Amino acid sequence: MAKTNPTTKAPAARARATTAAPKPAHQIADPDTRVYVGDCRELLRAVPECVNHEVDLIFADPPFNWQVKYDKWHDGLPRDEYLKFTADWLDGCVDALTPTGSLWVNIPDDTAAEIVVHLKSRGMHMINWCIWHYRFGQNRMGSFIQSKVHALYFAKDRDNRTWNPDGILEPSDRATTYFDPRTFNKAEGPNGMRVPMDVWYGKYWGRIQGNNKERRPNHMNQLPEVYLERVVRACSDKGMLVLDPFLGSGTTATIARALGRRAIGLEFSPANAKSAFQRIEQGPIRLGEALNQSTAIFAPRRTGPKTKQRLAATT
Ligand SMILES: C[S@@+](CC[C@H](N)C(=O)[O-])C[C@H]1O[C@@H](n2cnc3c(N)ncnc32)[C@H](O)[C@@H]1O
Repeated sequence: MAKTNPTTKAPAARARATTAAPKPAHQIADPDTRVYVGDCRELLRAVPECVNHEVDLIFADPPFNWQVKYDKWHDGLPRDEYLKFTADWLDGCVDALTPTGSLWVNIPDDTAAEIVVHLKSRGMHMINWCIWHYRFGQNRMGSFIQSKVHALYFAKDRDNRTWNPDGILEPSDRATTYFDPRTFNKAEGPNGMRVPMDVWYGKYWGRIQGNNKERRPNHMNQLPEVYLERVVRACSDKGMLVLDPFLGSGTTATIARALGRRAIGLEFSPANAKSAFQRIEQGPIRLGEALNQSTAIFAPRRTGPKTKQRLAATT
């Protein structure tokens, strides 16, 4: 049977039609974790924490309109409908956030610009335009191989947002590769460590394919755990509320729960929601494994005796 998405009603009409609090399809306590089944455009305007602007962090990895064979969602809308769909769920996310909340969007080249313009028009502040870089993009000869997705980091309030750099630090190239003594005597931040750069890659950062240990059956486009671990650690505190409007295999809620955050996942497919919830209960498999790893791409440089002496004196 052909898949059809409920895309035609205007947002205001939907908001009026969905005032009753929906029931989660799956839930577990300590910390409170809930999965709702339905169209996120409806649910973002009906789940009480969203209606009351109580969500601290939203991570959204929407369908890209690339004809992916999702369980229920038809991933091939006419372009203008896809853009309306995008603006609609973005608006729902912006409205659900606390005044200090953050919104991350994982999106490829085709729609990144439209999302940035829309969020700016809604008064959101862009904090970072990060890139998730992976190897093994699909081979092609007609243009450069695609090997990245944009990770757009927006906040409601640039100066008053949850930001935990200490939770995500990594060894700097100056420390691991160039043995530059200045990194051990810094005015800001711990010696030899840095906040990661805005291009993300490295061990465990590849796409979840083949026999990857993280891979869940029947899930298209699952994100790596390390990606969500970085976002959740950096932009939320324990006990805060994290929401994913496109839960998929459940990566966001699995990581959020494991890190002591409350979590809400919205998912259109009942089967995906069920499988995501099982994963949430099982917990992540790599938590913490990518922390404190250097992402330097050059081998350590040889240093002369003078540098070694200086380093020995500073470390
Ligand atoms: C790209 S996948 C998300 C993958 C997820 N980040 C992960 O790591 O597994 C998109 C998911 O959104 C769901 N979806 C699509 N449209 C939706 C909608 N309007 N409301 C809620 N979920 C939707 C799809 O069924 C699919 O599971």
